[in-house]
Amino acid sequence: MNILVIGSGGREHAIVWKLSKSKHKVNLWCAPGNGGISQLATCVDIKPMEFDKIVSFSKEQKMDLVVVAPDDPLASGLVDILEANDIPAFGPSKSAARLEGSKAFSKDFMKKHHIPTADYQVFDDATEALKYIEKSSFPIVVKADGLALGKGVIIAQDKKTAVDAVHNMMEEKKFGDAGNKIVIEEFLTGPEVSVLTFSDGKTLLPMVSSQDHKRAFDHDKGLNTGGMGAFAPSKIYSPEIEKLCQETIFKPTLEGLRKEGIQFKGVLYFGLILTPKGPYVLEYNARFGDPETQVVLPLMKNDLLDVFMAVIEEQLEDVVLEWEDKECVCVVLASGGYPVSYKKGYEIKGLERYEASQEIFVFHAGTQKADEKYITAGGRVLGVTAKGENMEVTRQKAYEAVKNISFTDMHYRTDIGVKK
Ligand code: AMP
Ligand code: GLY
Repeated sequence: MNILVIGSGGREHAIVWKLSKSKHKVNLWCAPGNGGISQLATCVDIKPMEFDKIVSFSKEQKMDLVVVAPDDPLASGLVDILEANDIPAFGPSKSAARLEGSKAFSKDFMKKHHIPTADYQVFDDATEALKYIEKSSFPIVVKADGLALGKGVIIAQDKKTAVDAVHNMMEEKKFGDAGNKIVIEEFLTGPEVSVLTFSDGKTLLPMVSSQDHKRAFDHDKGLNTGGMGAFAPSKIYSPEIEKLCQETIFKPTLEGLRKEGIQFKGVLYFGLILTPKGPYVLEYNARFGDPETQVVLPLMKNDLLDVFMAVIEEQLEDVVLEWEDKECVCVVLASGGYPVSYKKGYEIKGLERYEASQEIFVFHAGTQKADEKYITAGGRVLGVTAKGENMEVTRQKAYEAVKNISFTDMHYRTDIGVKK
């Protein structure tokens, strides 16, 4: 089977790696891919938003499946375009991807279908938003409606921060059109858990739970990043909480989509917060999470290609997801200065010894291969994932591997997997 994966991060490396283990004969391509992915797939120099090129390349190479991993092409309808060209694609349609692409849409959806989420108001007018802030108590959360590279959420501890956020989003257009509308919502407290699910529009199958670490520095200090590490399964996502999420969140979401006539086929990611009042939805994503995918897929026993095909063919009800009874920890190695400003082009040393490992998986995010060497090429450079019997041992394994890998100004958190 010819398969093209769209994207270039650690998530895409984990997807390509898992597909490369399929029992089916697969020929893998990735657009644009990265240094690590190029070991397993042929990387082609096409960007995720170059839809015409993706369609013509897929036709030329007779792709049997295109897996669309990142949010932008999903929100802009790449899956619809591929399907209109008779190219099977994994990922939600443009209409279904609104659950991630528009926070106003997803909040209205949750409210309408009684899915627990923070109280909120949507504004398309800055004056009205500022009036609302005048009457609010703090902290409060200000969110750009559209996709903003994970930077469009401001937790405002005081009035000035909230007012500045509204100015930046709606007047200065810091996030472009993503800030034409904003959502202002209640601040919730509690630990956060990510639950990724496969959905074919009729059945929703949760994957093993995981926890992300979004802040740049230890003890959740510093700026928000794309994710500095993750572990799976989550220790706080108990069978009781899972049952509660099934009843109050997953089932009503699937049912709500059905009522709205939206068929969601792909990965539906629930960003949950376990508040004192019960589990609430912070956000939906219409794709695999990153770095969560790097700790979830190594635990999956199923053949990922079979699951993708079951989603496309709407036969998910016949699938039973199976998981290894182990733990995974992923430590992200970032370029010094990330997420603000950083240099690229440094040689990465120490990767060879993990190439054939069954316990340490080094997923590449921002890397390039040049003359048999790997060079840093982004903010998040590598995700070093360890798999082991228990969390303590697995953390140690991950950090031992991290010590053997190096590049100039390498930065990582030392507390991944410590939090409850
Ligand atoms: P989102 O992109 O909506 O998931 O927001 C990014 C991060 O901001 C989340 O992972 C939370 O840590 C935080 N966040 C978002 N909404 C809220 C909220 N209503 N209350 C508290 N924290 C929030
Ligand atoms: N880890 C958060 C995300 O993928 O959006």
